[in-house]
Amino acid sequence: MSSQNWFHVCSVQDMPHNGGVCVKYGDHQIALYYFTHRNEWYASQNLCPHKQQMALSRGMLGSQQGEPKVACPFHKKTFSLKDGHCLNDETCGSIAVYEVRVKDGQVYIDVSDIEQEVPAGEPASNMCS
Ligand code: FES
Repeated sequence: MSSQNWFHVCSVQDMPHNGGVCVKYGDHQIALYYFTHRNEWYASQNLCPHKQQMALSRGMLGSQQGEPKVACPFHKKTFSLKDGHCLNDETCGSIAVYEVRVKDGQVYIDVSDIEQEVPAGEPASNMCS
């Protein structure tokens, strides 16, 4: 079992309410979501597995029987933000989801499952939208 590796993203004030942003981690794009009305945070890969679009950070947030979800803006494939499975098309692949932590007004994502070393000297944190 790998240990957690908390990657600092931004402050809470930088986030749109009930929306997402794209975060760069090395060559990876992570979608970070803030469900303001539920005070819940989630993160997933930004890549939609349906047609390989970097789009999930711009998706519509919602819930299905209490389960938080994001709908891709292209063709509305909808993914659970708890475990990443596709809720409305069993032929569509799942997405990777990551743990989020908020401490002292700062937002962190656990990137320990991302097999990527951020090259030394490059900025590790960078909003891409
Ligand atoms: S590319 Fe996301 S639903 Fe088609």
